[in-house]
Amino acid sequence: MNQVINVRPECIDDINDIKKITIEAFKNHPHSNSTEDEIVARLRADNDLSVSLVAEVNGVVVGHIAFSKVKINNEFIQWYGLAPVSVKPEYQNQGVGSKLILSGLDAIRQLNAHGCVLLGEPEYYNKFGFKAYSQLILKGVPAEYFQALVLSGKIPIGNVKYHSAFR
Ligand SMILES: CC(C)(COP(=O)(O)OP(=O)(O)OC[C@H]1O[C@@H](n2cnc3c(N)ncnc32)[C@H](O)[C@@H]1OP(=O)(O)O)[C@@H](O)C(=O)NCCC(=O)NCCS
Repeated sequence: MNQVINVRPECIDDINDIKKITIEAFKNHPHSNSTEDEIVARLRADNDLSVSLVAEVNGVVVGHIAFSKVKINNEFIQWYGLAPVSVKPEYQNQGVGSKLILSGLDAIRQLNAHGCVLLGEPEYYNKFGFKAYSQLILKGVPAEYFQALVLSGKIPIGNVKYHSAFR
């Protein structure tokens, strides 16, 4: 579908829409425990939502993406976690998710990110350059779903820890 997708940082008026979109997007997700909206709220409350972007189509918010800092071997080394990303079901498969991901990666580059990790379907995220690395580990998840994108330097070696909102 050929429509203009506008991506911009969240503002206070978007908070309810973001919550609704996140709940809706993850409603029937096979690996969700339906807490993604609470994760976003908690990151925001803790001032740890490093990047939070919304996607609009015709002025209506239809998608959202969040990034927060992750620790590697218990240290912040300018690596970020992409999560969650949500697109309203009726707007999925129209390029909204891709635009949010590419814009989000640009935004963390502006923050001098050295890299980004995520947990998700390899088929979807490979096209943005993400891949699984055996030396970068998120405990308790199948290795092939935990993927990373190096933005500068080398792939770190060690264990990754997300913000406590994800636990
Ligand atoms: C995943 C999600 C953000 C993608 O957004 P989107 O706007 O639908 O994605 P795009 O339109 O940019 O890309 C669609 C393409 O990705 C593919 N795709 C979407 N979700 C996929 C998945 N889980 N696994 C594999 N491929 C997937 C589609 O088949 C389509 O492929 P095509 O371009 O070859 O036809 C959206 O589907 C969503 O909100 N899903 C529910 C929440 C979720 O799973 N979030 C990600 C985990 S944090």
